[in-house]
Amino acid sequence: MSMVVTPLQQLIIERIRREGPITFADYMRMALYEPGHGYYVSGPARMGWEGDYFTSSDVASFFAHCVGRQLYQLWVLMKRPAPFVVLEQGAGRANLARGVREWAEPEAPDLYTALDYRSADIRLGQDALFSNEQAVPPHVLISNELVDAFPVHIVQTRQSRLYEVYVAEQEGQLHEVLDEPSSSDVAGYLERYHIPWAEFGDNWRAEINLDALSWIMQSARLLMGCGPRKRRGFLIAIDYGERASELYTINRRHGTLACYYKHQLTERPLARPGAQDLTAHVNFTALIDEGRRAGLRLHAFTTQRAWLTEMGIYDELERIRKRDFAVLDSERASDRGQIALLQWYNLRQRVTTLTDPGGLGSFKVLIMKR
Ligand SMILES: C[S@@+](CC[C@H](N)C(=O)[O-])C[C@H]1O[C@@H](n2cnc3c(N)ncnc32)[C@H](O)[C@@H]1O
Repeated sequence: MSMVVTPLQQLIIERIRREGPITFADYMRMALYEPGHGYYVSGPARMGWEGDYFTSSDVASFFAHCVGRQLYQLWVLMKRPAPFVVLEQGAGRANLARGVREWAEPEAPDLYTALDYRSADIRLGQDALFSNEQAVPPHVLISNELVDAFPVHIVQTRQSRLYEVYVAEQEGQLHEVLDEPSSSDVAGYLERYHIPWAEFGDNWRAEINLDALSWIMQSARLLMGCGPRKRRGFLIAIDYGERASELYTINRRHGTLACYYKHQLTERPLARPGAQDLTAHVNFTALIDEGRRAGLRLHAFTTQRAWLTEMGIYDELERIRKRDFAVLDSERASDRGQIALLQWYNLRQRVTTLTDPGGLGSFKVLIMKR
């Protein structure tokens, strides 16, 4: 069978030939972020219905409106600073920024006037892990599905020992090998969260996201700002994941690494580097603990479903029904009524998708403050 080797595959192979096997995290970093080739930094943006995946901000403006109402609450808590600087990291196509502004202009004109919402993304050379000190420190740092896209190390148990997964090559083919953990941070990570991995038997796997730790440190520093004056700041991170005790369990034997190619879940992370998305669930305990070490405090940790409910998604749906779909009560049988009914179902379905406990609704919303 002849294999087409892509330019990125070739680069990875050359690196392995030079340096020896690389950690899965190094492989993932190249597959997603290698300049000019990586999945996130080359070619068309791949989100949305046409791409490989879609996110909450694609599903409905309701999500952005809830973010708007959340920002409003925080703005009031901070005593309405103007400008109110919000920095979104990993903003992709900046859908969320657009949705928040569209909501704020008519619904919260005071916030709209103060709001300075900036969208950053590694596609545009703005790496959340190395953000330069901002000229204007943000009041709020926000991200949706950013941390799950950071490169992860993978560990695997064998005979009561913990090994790390490396990527090696043989005759131009990439394959996995196990070896000693690449650093003490990887080796000691699961102990930090009291995970009894040695009791989990052979071939149990887990992902370790060290970049998530650097990122929250960096974020805390950004929120501290550069001025001598002490002021408040908030971090909002929305993503899929769990607390450590729910993420690293005996029953989840293969970890949570997922590969997406054109909306299809595939099981071959080493195939098509640069052409498929790779992600892993977020360890929220790690973000909370490390955030605390960096001087942040926990403000809220909840599910997307509960958070959207608290932010009034159902109230908004009900208001829209009363305002735009009165025809459903008066003339449901008419053509106008039938069309309205379809539109109403569509709208309601979007809210159901965002809050579905088996899907987006189980995402977590973490808010930390300083
Ligand atoms: C799953 S997408 C989510 C996009 C958008 N937030 C949304 O909800 O549709 C992840 C985004 O994070 C960006 N990204 C990944 N790593 C990043 C980093 N280190 N710094 C900044 N952006 C990053 C990617 O380019 C991509 O746009």
